[in-house]
Amino acid sequence: MRAIQITSLDGPGAIELTDVPEPEPSHMMTPGEGVVVAVEAAGVAFPEVLQTRGQYQFKPDLPFVPGAEVSGTVLAASDGAGVAVGDRVAAFCFLGGFAEQAVAPPHMVFKVGDELDAAQAAGLVLNYHTAYFALKLRGRLAEGDKVLVHGAAGGVGTAAIQVAKGLGAAQVIAVVSTDEKEQVARDAGADDVVRSDGEWRAQALEISGGGVDLVVDPVGGDRFTDSLRSLAEDGRVVVVGFTGGSIPEVKVNRLLLRNTEVIGAGWGAYVMSRPQLNREIGAAIDALIASGHVRPIVGARFGLERAGEALELIDGRGALGKVVLDVADRP
Ligand SMILES: NC(=O)c1ccc[n+]([C@@H]2O[C@H](COP(=O)([O-])OP(=O)(O)OC[C@H]3O[C@@H](n4cnc5c(N)ncnc54)[C@H](OP(=O)(O)O)[C@@H]3O)[C@@H](O)[C@H]2O)c1
Repeated sequence: MRAIQITSLDGPGAIELTDVPEPEPSHMMTPGEGVVVAVEAAGVAFPEVLQTRGQYQFKPDLPFVPGAEVSGTVLAASDGAGVAVGDRVAAFCFLGGFAEQAVAPPHMVFKVGDELDAAQAAGLVLNYHTAYFALKLRGRLAEGDKVLVHGAAGGVGTAAIQVAKGLGAAQVIAVVSTDEKEQVARDAGADDVVRSDGEWRAQALEISGGGVDLVVDPVGGDRFTDSLRSLAEDGRVVVVGFTGGSIPEVKVNRLLLRNTEVIGAGWGAYVMSRPQLNREIGAAIDALIASGHVRPIVGARFGLERAGEALELIDGRGALGKVVLDVADRP
């Protein structure tokens, strides 16, 4: 089958389209158990950019097929997998998604209905499960809370806006860097949008009426202290990622002064060994799809052979919503 491989750690431009064997229904994280998916679309995300340079925390031996998540149709499933041949699914395969077939652990495969097309389904698991995990399970989002989302036009950001609204947030303030990204954040459902290169902290304090209850931060870098300063009392900053490049440090006296918290949210490794939690998050996301709140915002789409361009777009801070590879021919 056709697949994209990372063969050297020279960045997004150095990946190769090649032929590899089709996978068996057994995943490296659940040996002997797995679900093989005929891939229709594959989601592209920041970790894959890091993988092309060997900068991601998980470093497989070269060469390997990247691609953490896909949508498509079940081709084969081990006993007890909970899905059947022919089911339409979204699946988190961790690696191997940039290919015509991918294998995922059974508890990371979720049936999808007609509300989502293939590209949207390919952007469902990583971003929306992370958003729910960060907002609800780690950040303890309650109905009526005010939420500020950094990197709000990106994959995690657009998902966080929609999940926050779906869980009853009273106000979602998006932080973005350009006009185009402002539009994406509004399309995702943000109530207010502020600019990362402007007086965003002062604006957020003003439009929230004194501070937000929750900040979701996939960006990090030098805006972190201002995130703490934009919290209301009892507020929480949830740390999700560091696309800004640098890892911030916290002066903990700030936490004491206003009774605030900094909380880590690392979804992938945590849920990988917790099948029941995955099912619960999957059910919560299904409910938000049914209520119309979750509709992944798909941005640029590329054929499999153009995966390098997709990665370069993310690397260059150009992604609007979810970047997707159309692996099967589009109807
Ligand atoms: N903790 C977890 O479990 C988990 C799960 C999934 C993803 N993540 C992490 O979350 C982060 C965001 O992922 P994503 O898929 O949402 O990425 P994305 O779609 O590329 O969006 C990231 C956003 O970060 C902002 N940004 C600021 N400085 C940037 C820079 N120098 N380069 C690139 N982007 C920059 C950009 O928004 P502006 O231009 O508007 O500032 C961009 O829209 C990544 O670090 C990823 O590894 C963590």
